[in-house]
Amino acid sequence: MKVKGAVNIFNEYVFSDFEKQLFVIIADEAKKLNYPSYIVGGYVRDKLLLRDNKKDIDFVCIGSGIELALNVAKKLGKNIHVSVFKNFGTAHFKYNGIDLEFVGARKESYNRDSRKPVVENGTLEDDQNRRDFTMNALAISLNENNYGEIIDPFHGISDIENKIIRTPLDPVITFSDDPLRMMRAIRFATELHFIIEEKTFNGIKESAERINIISPERITDELNKIILSDIPSKGFYLLHESGLLKYIFPEMIDLVGVEMQDGRGHKDNFYHTLEVLDNISLNTNDLWLRWAAVLHDIAKPATKRYFEKQGWAFHGHEVVGSRMVKGIFKRMRLPLDAKMKFVEKMVLLHLRPISLTKENVTDSAIRRLLFDAGEDIESLMLLCKADITTKNRLKVKRYSDNFEMVRQKLKDVEEHDKIQNFQPPVSGELIMKTFNVNPGRKVGLIKDHIKEAILDGIIPNEYEAAYQLMLKKGAELGLTPQHK
Ligand code: CTP
Repeated sequence: MKVKGAVNIFNEYVFSDFEKQLFVIIADEAKKLNYPSYIVGGYVRDKLLLRDNKKDIDFVCIGSGIELALNVAKKLGKNIHVSVFKNFGTAHFKYNGIDLEFVGARKESYNRDSRKPVVENGTLEDDQNRRDFTMNALAISLNENNYGEIIDPFHGISDIENKIIRTPLDPVITFSDDPLRMMRAIRFATELHFIIEEKTFNGIKESAERINIISPERITDELNKIILSDIPSKGFYLLHESGLLKYIFPEMIDLVGVEMQDGRGHKDNFYHTLEVLDNISLNTNDLWLRWAAVLHDIAKPATKRYFEKQGWAFHGHEVVGSRMVKGIFKRMRLPLDAKMKFVEKMVLLHLRPISLTKENVTDSAIRRLLFDAGEDIESLMLLCKADITTKNRLKVKRYSDNFEMVRQKLKDVEEHDKIQNFQPPVSGELIMKTFNVNPGRKVGLIKDHIKEAILDGIIPNEYEAAYQLMLKKGAELGLTPQHK
């Protein structure tokens, strides 16, 4: 980190011409209004971290943030629409794809989602006091006398250098202003590979139950960011250790621990699930595939049984688990659309490729897998591979070899039979027309019979063979073809 003491950050760090010009315009407008102004929050933090992907910039001024926003927008162009939130004393608008947000410094809590109206104007220090973490409480001056100087009352710069997350005030106060900040602390720790300072972490432990007053949407936003981090397990361990997990995701708590009977235990499914999640995160940034990893064994506690001969078993956990997905998605306000269906499908099928490696891999088993997974076969294979977490090197080798063999067979069979995007070679329409029947049970039976015959390799996936089979099955059902 290059910044020490009172230096001009604009000379020390890389800012685009666009950014520099924008800040000069804002500084000018603020000066006209006689409002001391500052750039604050995540944008400053990310600049110091050399993370350059921020699409929003927050400004605070000692005065009316709304007035400043309106004046800046006017200066920047004619057709800029400014959204004003009078109750919160904030205004924002988009400019060149960047969200610019303006607020007047206030004395009370910095909490956009609170319904409490802003009551008292404050100083820059008041504003910084009420922010979540020292690294997010840095301000860059836009004032003439110290333009570009970083104002850092809580040693946020040194916390960034030392990779520490710490609240500016007593953590219990900071967290009670907005309990979502407990999730944010863990999310930042996971995303940035930072450590949460002890007192701050104890504050989370103490305040954990207060997370219940936060809307599920906001919690889920943070959870998704944790899941999308490089090593998401870190976030889940912290959520567990802090006591937050049991409020936001109790099904995962049920995965924790090992039960013993007759001296035999099963694996700790919490630990295993997080290993699978980390594994898959090496190979995909797809949020929903990562969610499938989180949920793949979610029904193990519900299906767990001990058998004297074979030991612990979790029969049907993939079926029960896939049925649990909807309830969890609903509660967490995750989308109940094709993405959820995808997760359900992954959970339901997650054992299939591996079970193929154990038995004799027949073409028909492969065809059925291709049919059931359809276009998601690659995702399923990734999940399945990530699920190999045994520490026994011989077993790893055996599973991996078998796994590659299944992969090859999938390729061969697909090339030959084209099952993945299966379209019945004989349509329902044609069946109805041929036998002059209305839609009904018999049409369904014929279609199914043809599909099963293709999957079992009894007939090829081709029109002529399917047509002949249709005639045969129709005859069995007492139908006669109508010739024109
Ligand atoms: N902030 C806060 N408490 C919150 C949310 C935000 O104090 N619960 C303050 C912090 O100073 C934060 C700033 O508002 O830096 C901007 O918040 P936001 O845009 O939500 O997050 P960022 O910190 O910018 O980070 P990210 O974009 O990664 O969420």
